Amino acid sequence: MKVGVIGTGHVGLVTCVTMAAIGHRVVGIDADEEKMQQLERGITPFFEPGLQELLTETTREGTLSFTSSPPEAIGDSEVVFVCVGTPARASGEANLIAVEQAAQTIARHATGRTVVVEKSTVPAGTALRVGRTLARERPGSEDELEVASNPEFLREGTAVYDSLNPDRILVGAESEWAFDVMRRLYAPLTEKGHILIETNISTAELAKHACNAFLALKISYANAVARMCERTDADVVAVADVMGSDPRIGRDFLNAGLGYGGYCFPKDLVAFERLAERLGVAFPLLREVARINDDAVASTINKVREALWNLEEKRIAVLGLSFKGGTDDIRFSPSLALVRDLIQEGAQVVGYDPQAGANAKTEVPALEIAPDAYDAATGAHCVVVGTDWDEFRGLDLGRLKQVMAYPVVVDGRNIFEPDQMRQAGFTYYPTGRPAVV
Ligand code: UGA
Repeated sequence: MKVGVIGTGHVGLVTCVTMAAIGHRVVGIDADEEKMQQLERGITPFFEPGLQELLTETTREGTLSFTSSPPEAIGDSEVVFVCVGTPARASGEANLIAVEQAAQTIARHATGRTVVVEKSTVPAGTALRVGRTLARERPGSEDELEVASNPEFLREGTAVYDSLNPDRILVGAESEWAFDVMRRLYAPLTEKGHILIETNISTAELAKHACNAFLALKISYANAVARMCERTDADVVAVADVMGSDPRIGRDFLNAGLGYGGYCFPKDLVAFERLAERLGVAFPLLREVARINDDAVASTINKVREALWNLEEKRIAVLGLSFKGGTDDIRFSPSLALVRDLIQEGAQVVGYDPQAGANAKTEVPALEIAPDAYDAATGAHCVVVGTDWDEFRGLDLGRLKQVMAYPVVVDGRNIFEPDQMRQAGFTYYPTGRPAVV
């Protein structure tokens, strides 16, 4: 099938390469000229495991191409994905101007019967607006242009894998024809056993927000329990294991630490809250989830203060700067929020990240960037683990201790075990577990 993809950010570009990889003929387009040129040269604009390889492969085979010309991307496509950004307005509501513009462009350039698929995370009710825009821009096109919702559940860091091995594919549509097009589109995956759930459009739109908000809630729940554990001698990791052994709860997303960040959870949670308000539904639980999350950084800084007393003239090494391991994405990174606060308090901060160092330096110029973890720790009075990169689990603790000024580790992601740190001779402050002092 010929597939057009508008927007080549994290979701859009992964959609491009994976749709091409399962056998479709895909044309991607983005308003960002620089990004387009980079993609035309075959280079991915951000780090995502497996993406570069698949981009090279699909563009070489000719199943994926990029263009700056809307008629080329949209004309005679059976499916056009809308993967544009939906950033938060100052009010927290999703800004949908790019979605509206994409709908206008599609109405102008689509030839033949086309399903316009929302993949960007949008509030319930958006499809209705998109449908109206299509009809206004091209009166009488109701039978030709139909809207569907196909929210993405991929995670950064495993985006390519998630897209090719989805837990579920969710399609919201209003006609048998649109469902049929989407079934054919995903047939290479459903034939391998991946399930496709069909709902109406509002259900699909709302389900995406409900999933992200619920996952954020699990994390905040674990973080609130961690604060209670810290005031007793309970251990939040063991509590999470006990909770997780109940299949009704599940162990995933119960890891206490610096909290959630990234371009999805913080933004989607507030957008969901605004939607609830707009619909007249009292849902203050969502605000509470965000409040607990904001407290997680403050609580970690308290541990640094507890360990070092005054932060002025202290050198602090922060390991991990991206919002989670496996990505160079620093958007709404809790670790970077911590870095900013430490600098604000007068500490000298040096950071190391396997992928996100350059991005972090651009965002926080006062942050010194080290080439590796040991270099960062050299002369430091404290190491703070800010992101759960696997690489940190394998650090040589003897060497780490040797290069540090004080042997103090504050673990914002619980990547070390208290016993291991005690044996290595560290003063160790984990999250929600008894400290080693
Ligand atoms: C999230 C969802 O997991 C995806 O299903 C969804 O498609 C995506 O948002 C989206 O809407 O586009 P992502 O933002 O890539 O994916 O990251 P997650 O792996 O969900 O992690 C989010 C944040 O929660 C990270 O900062 C992570 O460190 C934190 N986290 C996660 C915890 O603090 N504790 C946990 O137990 C799990």
